[in-house]
Amino acid sequence: MSLISIKKLLSTKPQSQEVMVNGWVKTFRSNRFIALNDGSTIKNIQCVVDFENFDENLIKSITTGAAIRVTGALVESMGRGQSVEIQVSDIFVHGSADPETYPIQPKKHSLEFLREKAHLRVRTNTFSAVMRVRAALAFAVHSYFQQNGFYYFHAPIITGSDAEGAGEMFRVTTLDAKNPPLNDDGAVNYKEDFFGKETNLTVSGQLEAEAYAMGLGKVYTFGPTFRAENSNTSRHLAEFWMIEPEMAFYNLDMNMDLAEDFIKWVLKYVLDNCQDDLRFLEQRLLDEEKSKPQTERSEMALLEKLRFVVDNNFKRVTYTEAIDILRNSKPNKKKKFEYVIDEWGADLQSEHERFLVEKHFKCPVILFDYPAKIKAFYMRLNEDEKTVRAMDVLFPGIGEIVGGSQREERFDVLKQKMADLDIPEEELWWYLELRKFGTAEHSGFGLGFERLVQFATGMGNIRDVIPFPRTPQNAEF
Ligand code: 4AD
Ligand code: MG
Repeated sequence: MSLISIKKLLSTKPQSQEVMVNGWVKTFRSNRFIALNDGSTIKNIQCVVDFENFDENLIKSITTGAAIRVTGALVESMGRGQSVEIQVSDIFVHGSADPETYPIQPKKHSLEFLREKAHLRVRTNTFSAVMRVRAALAFAVHSYFQQNGFYYFHAPIITGSDAEGAGEMFRVTTLDAKNPPLNDDGAVNYKEDFFGKETNLTVSGQLEAEAYAMGLGKVYTFGPTFRAENSNTSRHLAEFWMIEPEMAFYNLDMNMDLAEDFIKWVLKYVLDNCQDDLRFLEQRLLDEEKSKPQTERSEMALLEKLRFVVDNNFKRVTYTEAIDILRNSKPNKKKKFEYVIDEWGADLQSEHERFLVEKHFKCPVILFDYPAKIKAFYMRLNEDEKTVRAMDVLFPGIGEIVGGSQREERFDVLKQKMADLDIPEEELWWYLELRKFGTAEHSGFGLGFERLVQFATGMGNIRDVIPFPRTPQNAEF
């Protein structure tokens, strides 16, 4: 007899055929009904046990959390809420779970509590649902790009350059921290380090992806990215996964079209393929909302919100238009924003982004043509010489989900920009050289994968959509 997943079993026609499944016990009621789950689906299979036929000690070891193998006949279920069940003839206990110490009991646990048990939290309905949706989204990301002529490009994890110019990087070194080799001036001599220079974990694979787009045409990265920014928010991780498509011969409009089409396609994919999990997560949110005051409840349930994004156009607005809207907005006039907007050129904070998306436009927004001063060096300068061809996609409940731009492809303009910002040419000589040999208009963007998973699952905290989150003061597990 071969093993079968619970997901498969639940859609199998019951004909009293003998079946065998493995799983973890969710509950064991009245020494008779085991709700068993193997992770293949949010649904459990009911296993009906005649306890008189089994050893007492064996029955005792079937506790919540125990891993067991059940053999029996698959029959139609008389009980409510399930179509089939197993009439158990044999039980093997792989490993029991002591009810005194097993933390995941059949009751509601707070997300904060479960973060401390990150090695076990995937045994809960919420986390297994989130992680299945995450896996489906990752597959959808690859499917989308593969179907649209993009090549998967593996950007290096260790780099010598700071792509975003943010300087918030994790150093990679093999030097002795207590006793590093020093130069005459007392500074650490990185020439003696492993790579013979200072190196860090990458904050973005973009610059390297640009090199490959200018040869393969269309590429995308999908890999881990690291930022040592000390932001303890519900939207920041120190280690997160980023998806970065980069396309030769694309201008900013084509870039925006791609970002919108891509996000809609992957969300549609999970709507079509993760119904059970999304419905569970939607109910979870509805239950959570009941404890909130009316004014703080969201207007749409999860599935409706996802369908809304898939079915409607994103609103495209220039930074300048957005600043006008913000300047004249109620919270700005009443000084309700923490950062009041009074001048063109101000950097937008997440409170402003969320106002635009959630209160003003009430749909996803793409802001573009930002002031050059608040954006990275590589973005293409507009004719006005004040703004750059940047774009950010802003989402309800999330804020910025995508950041991208058309790249500066003109050698002289880029060289001047780097000089103005004190970016050493020795560090990025190769990046400049791409502008010397067969340069062309090109564009790309980066999408924070965890923010996408947050949106798709409705989870409020980014720490709850990645298996083992890395945040300031936290790298347990
Ligand atoms: O806007 P960012 O910094 O853009 C770049 O890194 C560009 N090089 C991308 C490109 O054009 N190829 O980051 C892109 C996205 C953000 O919009 C956000 O979704 C996510 O990455 N992100 C984070 N997600 C989780 N934790 C963090 N600390 C993040 N920082 C950025
Ligand atoms: Mg950004």
